[in-house]
Amino acid sequence: MSAVEETRFPRGIRVLSPEVAARIAAGEVVERPVSVVRELLDNAIDAGASRITLEFEEGGVALIRVTDDGRGMEPEDVELAFERHATSKISRLDDLLQVHTLGFRGEALPSIAAAADVEVVSRASKQPVGVFLALVEGRAVRRLSRPAPVGTSLTVRDLFARVPARRKFLGTAAAESRAVIVLATHYALAYPGVSFQVVSGGRRALTTSGDGDIRHAFAAVYGAGMAAAMLNVEYAEGVVSVAGLAGPPSVHRGNRSAISVFVNGRWVQSRPLAFAVVDAYQSQLPGGRFPVAAIHIALPDEEVDVNVHPAKAEVRFRDERSVGRAVRHAITRALEGARPVDWGPRDERADPRPAVLLADPGRLGSAPEALRAPRPVQAVLELTRRSLSGQGDQQIARPTQRDLLPLLRVVGQLGATYIVAEGPDGMYLIDQHAAHERVVYDRLVAKAGSAEPPALQPLLEPVLLDLEPPLAAVLEEYRGTLARLGLETEPFGERSALIRAVPAGLGAVDLSQEVGRLLEKLEGETRVEGAFGKAAATVACHSSVRAGMALAMDEMRRLVEDLERTTAPRTCPHGRPTLIHLGTEAIERQFGRR
Ligand SMILES: Nc1ncnc2c1ncn2[C@@H]1O[C@H](COP(=O)(O)OP(=O)(O)OP(=O)(O)O)[C@@H](O)[C@H]1O
Ligand SMILES: [Mg+2]
Repeated sequence: MSAVEETRFPRGIRVLSPEVAARIAAGEVVERPVSVVRELLDNAIDAGASRITLEFEEGGVALIRVTDDGRGMEPEDVELAFERHATSKISRLDDLLQVHTLGFRGEALPSIAAAADVEVVSRASKQPVGVFLALVEGRAVRRLSRPAPVGTSLTVRDLFARVPARRKFLGTAAAESRAVIVLATHYALAYPGVSFQVVSGGRRALTTSGDGDIRHAFAAVYGAGMAAAMLNVEYAEGVVSVAGLAGPPSVHRGNRSAISVFVNGRWVQSRPLAFAVVDAYQSQLPGGRFPVAAIHIALPDEEVDVNVHPAKAEVRFRDERSVGRAVRHAITRALEGARPVDWGPRDERADPRPAVLLADPGRLGSAPEALRAPRPVQAVLELTRRSLSGQGDQQIARPTQRDLLPLLRVVGQLGATYIVAEGPDGMYLIDQHAAHERVVYDRLVAKAGSAEPPALQPLLEPVLLDLEPPLAAVLEEYRGTLARLGLETEPFGERSALIRAVPAGLGAVDLSQEVGRLLEKLEGETRVEGAFGKAAATVACHSSVRAGMALAMDEMRRLVEDLERTTAPRTCPHGRPTLIHLGTEAIERQFGRR
């Protein structure tokens, strides 16, 4: 054992003295399958594993198995590991102040063995064979020696079979399974140096290389496209250092679940730290959207107390504010240079930013330089907020209340992204992508409501689509709905599908990449209600002209005419504005004519 290993894992397992045991944050350790998985992964990592396999069935209720290639347990320790307060990781009170391992309480295995039947096979590196031990109701019932590779494999079956009241509180197998996969993805990002293999119901759900590069781990979870777009974070302030990846503002999600925060290698669910991450983006994200980030925070042991939560999900900082500040500064710095334009009047309440500028990944890159320059003219554009509010998707349900656009005359195109038009009262700037999205969305909804088949392009040769785990689940869930919209796929192998037909208008050089992105967007879609609405809005987005595409005058005229005929011409299906209006009066005021 190297010196480092010595300190991480100092001695064999022994039972903590009552004095130390009493200082351990007490409470329920095992609440759901995901809490068992977390404890087992923690143990594998503490054992120095470089490869960890996680298998589970039926959301983990039927079976959870974690296999590692760590240092294993000595034969005389295997039973002891299942005693309360038996741990090899700390022994004295002082150790509690300097915990270098994920575990330290000696609580996990006994709690798990009390909640389910457990089998363990473990072989320490100096032993010729391993030990097999089976426990029922927390008691060892069988022990054998058994040939095994160095490391530990622990199997948990029929969780809470003897505690029916607990079982009732579990979610569906799909929900529990999702929780486990989400946990595994956080762990994959926390330990890029560990190769994870996650298999759910016999299907491979996640595989990471373990080559130590967080961007590679990130790619395994979120896809190569997103991994390439992520910004590097590297920063130190006082005793706190911050490193990892942060998404550009063009990448965002509907909730905070894609923000992973690790403190001294430990995944923590810290609201203040997640807030600090979000805070760094300030107003660069559309309202109600959250960034994607994997942030590692390192600070001295005495600055952080890990012994505060029974499931070890939270930590306490000696100086939480300064940690939050360091995180905010680290991300702010990473974002510098990637900041989009901030123009127009600011009204926090109504959030009148032209969200169209921020809406689309890829748009940032294609936005013309002039638009990215900071604050070109102060408060030039007056937004038609009043007429925008209270509109959106409910308009589709009540087409009689249709909001009409004034007659618009197309003047030209700005930055291959916006259509400049003149109306009876001043100038209109129309986001070509958002406007087209509205047009296509309305058509899709109308088609689906009729007996007509969807407008689609069948493919001569089916295209193979490889999917990361969360997206494979999205496709599974939406397969039928997407087919009604023209995207026909069929399952093919474990994490792949064949694309048979795509919606008319979905043109792309790389169809499988395009459909992958479509599913990614669909997964994050929270602004539109209902499965069909979400799918239709997403398909519309991917079948619409992009920002950065030069349009001919008559194409622009046709688009504006089509927009005028839609049910809610002033918003895209996601509720973002399709146009902003600069009234004659505002123009005159700007030029000092009034
Ligand atoms: N996968 C493993 N490889 C090697 N040793 C293990 C493994 N899992 C458990 N052990 C040993 O069993 C002991 C008890 O594990 P358990 O998870 O119950 O407690 P802990 O990890 O010490 O603390 P905590 O309750 O905070 O997790 C550990 O201290 C460790 O020595
Ligand atoms: Mg443990």
